[in-house]
Amino acid sequence: MEKIIYILILIILENSDFYKNIETIYNPTTYDFLVNKNIKLNESYMPNDLELIDKNFSLEEKYLRKEAKLAFEKMASDAKEEGYTIIAVSTYRSYNYQEKLYSNYVKEKGFYYADMASARAGHSEHQTGLAIDIADHTLDYDNFENTKEFNWMKNNAYKYGFILRYPKAKFHITGFKYEPWHYRYVGKYIAKYIYENDITLEEYKKKYT
Ligand code: DAL
Ligand code: ZN
Repeated sequence: MEKIIYILILIILENSDFYKNIETIYNPTTYDFLVNKNIKLNESYMPNDLELIDKNFSLEEKYLRKEAKLAFEKMASDAKEEGYTIIAVSTYRSYNYQEKLYSNYVKEKGFYYADMASARAGHSEHQTGLAIDIADHTLDYDNFENTKEFNWMKNNAYKYGFILRYPKAKFHITGFKYEPWHYRYVGKYIAKYIYENDITLEEYKKKYT
């Protein structure tokens, strides 16, 4: 079964527009802008309002843009009160760091797998300072789907302005395989709309721009 899915993904990748006709953005001014396989951030883009996340809710020193950081800390602290441990294991990543991550993926897993799982430099939401990879107390984000914290995030993340950015079965739209651990800050209003309508950020932007 997995092999069939993999072959289907290869066919989609081969026949898609992913990484073709790429647009570059230099200075995003809103919280809902798209960064994906067709829209990249300029190499030198680094948000100017990055702030350190409360170390109770992060693995080592992690940075997010101010508004996303405050929303994340509020979410993690409300979750804590209800008995859930939400830890940010990866947040802002620079262009150069993403370049290394992607090329390691290619080396270890091959080109097609890398393109399903990791963004090429400039195309990662982590460069926006608005994306977070989340794990529970085990810090194992790969297993996040099987935790009670994932269930909590599924029902509550939107209330704080976060969306599950790469949902199951949306590969043909997002270009990335299911990532239960990756959340993107878009603000409360848009997050609620995306959650209630079960759509991706791509679909939302298509409808409203
Ligand atoms: N894993 C996500 C798609 C990234 O590399 O940004
Ligand atoms: Zn991520």
